[in-house]
Amino acid sequence: MSESTQLAGKHVLLGLSGGIACYKSAELVRLLIKAGATVQVMMSEAAEAFITPVTMQALSNQPVLMSQWDAREPNNMAHINATRRADVMLVAPASADFIAKLVQGRANDLLSLTALARPAQRCALLVAPAMNREMWAHPATQRNIAQLRADGAVVLGPGSGDQACGEIGDGRMLEAAELRDELIAFFQPKLLAGKTLLITAGPTFEPIDPVRGLTNRSSGKMGFAIARAAAEAGAEVTLVAGPVHLATPRGVRRVDVQTALQMYDAVLPRAAAHDVFVATAAVADWRPAQMTEHKIKKDGSSASTAPSFELTENPDILAAVAALADKPFCVGFAAESRDLLKHAREKLLRKGVPLIVGNLGPATFGRDDNALLLVDAQGQRELPHNDKLSLARELIREISARLQEKL
Ligand code: CTP
Repeated sequence: MSESTQLAGKHVLLGLSGGIACYKSAELVRLLIKAGATVQVMMSEAAEAFITPVTMQALSNQPVLMSQWDAREPNNMAHINATRRADVMLVAPASADFIAKLVQGRANDLLSLTALARPAQRCALLVAPAMNREMWAHPATQRNIAQLRADGAVVLGPGSGDQACGEIGDGRMLEAAELRDELIAFFQPKLLAGKTLLITAGPTFEPIDPVRGLTNRSSGKMGFAIARAAAEAGAEVTLVAGPVHLATPRGVRRVDVQTALQMYDAVLPRAAAHDVFVATAAVADWRPAQMTEHKIKKDGSSASTAPSFELTENPDILAAVAALADKPFCVGFAAESRDLLKHAREKLLRKGVPLIVGNLGPATFGRDDNALLLVDAQGQRELPHNDKLSLARELIREISARLQEKL
């Protein structure tokens, strides 16, 4: 599934209440439409002080709904019609005042009226708070947020950082791309709700001297996609990442490491507390036995010889986790250049794990797509060529089905 179809067929009712973050909602409409959604914008009177309905209509390609007395609706019931058509209602920005109104069940303008009249079972309410940090920290707001959650709304963020008022702290609305990803995640089935998943990703870097080292071409993309898919499926995810330049998927706890030994030390104490362990990292099999304290230099003479150094074997992280008495459900990866099925089956036995995911390493390193071969004691199943996020979601389905069998 490409980025342009992640929200295909979804109809989003996007509500704007008053706040400077309204400018981010313009970008959000663009991103939602780019992801395949249709968007109906609804604005409170206060929102109109920050951004014009003209902008929002042009971006959403639909007239903006603003008044409960709008006679354009044939039945004059915009507050009913809007949510009957929508798959989800997202209020972004949600001001402190608007959140207070939601909590009290007030209905004196179209946006609050619509939220109240929404069929809660089939049209969830997602709320992205946006306010100054003192307003966010105020006990009244915190009390309202707790009540909003208790009433079944999903609260997205807020983020933290620079604020329009010049202060720094919690209360910023999430960025448009973050809200889009939250919506995409919202629509994924919660197959791993209540489960914990630990995952390794990326290469390791084994230093030779302070400026050089041994590493490999793993980009970490497959591992990061699995971490994202697991978080979307409701799991609590810890991602132990080697040196990669990838953004942490939303909601994922990340631990950065460089070497195989650091990865081992990050994983082993955590592993038993998790339900699932997925080892996607391309861990270096060997490391230089000693790291030279200073940079190795050429001596400048024509007769200089190339330096040589000894290698020593790194511990096998996956095998060590699979040998724990209270081990999680372990999934290994096999990156091969040929004879995928044969090598994957050998690895299944050698590592003592219930599932190995094979892929042809050189063909996939750094790319956004892949093809996988799932190998377990029962047989094998091919997940045909697709983007890495779609494959990751498919793998999460397979893992969740196996966890169900274990119960
Ligand atoms: N792995 C690990 N720790 C290591 C080496 C590998 O956790 N020190 C994990 C990888 O993350 C992967 C699986 O083991 O899930 C397969 O790794 P691979 O290096 O392909 O296996 P090897 O046993 O080294 O087999 P080969 O030498 O055939 O590549």
